[in-house]
Amino acid sequence: MKKFLIAAVFILFLTFQTFINTSTAAELSDKTRTLTLDDDGKEVVVSIKEYTKGKRLFNDVCAQCHAGGITKTNPDVSLDLDALSLAYPTRNHILGLIDYMKNPTSYDGFEEISELHPSLKSADIYPEMRNLTEDDLYSLAGFMLIEPKVKGKQWGGGKIFR
Ligand code: HEC
Repeated sequence: MKKFLIAAVFILFLTFQTFINTSTAAELSDKTRTLTLDDDGKEVVVSIKEYTKGKRLFNDVCAQCHAGGITKTNPDVSLDLDALSLAYPTRNHILGLIDYMKNPTSYDGFEEISELHPSLKSADIYPEMRNLTEDDLYSLAGFMLIEPKVKGKQWGGGKIFR
């Protein structure tokens, strides 16, 4: 019986592994992973490893509200590139997103909303934000900017596609 249990757990583990592997697009090209870093348009290439880590973190920490790039609790503010580029300050680049995760502001930039939105600044009330390193934030931003390139309208298009 014990052996059977161990085998069952092992099979479950393998199944899960396969699932993870097939869902990480290892074939993402350099071009797809070339992203804008900052407001000046500087470019960086995010590695597949960083993308994969970003995806995992996004699923753990953000997807409950932002699965598929939408915002469940406020459908007006999606994570698609148009929405990000029209926010103030602009958020359609890595540093803009990192800044948002540290200290989020309203869409027009006027109000600080860290008490309403998970952030490093409000990690006391959002414990899931506590252990995120600078590297984690970079990976998260990379994932959020690669996803619309891969999924097109299916990212943030107002409906959850999976
Ligand atoms: C509890 C739900 C919730 C969670 C969890 C959450 N968000 Fe949000 N997010 C929102 C809401 C609501 C807004 C709109 C805020 C506003 O009023 O401007 C938003 C807005 C955003 C925006 C701005 C989008 C734009 O078009 O300007 C970004 C970027 C963002 N979230 C990233 C994240 C990231 C990254 C995580 C995970 C670390 C995360 N969010 C976790 C609810 C959430």
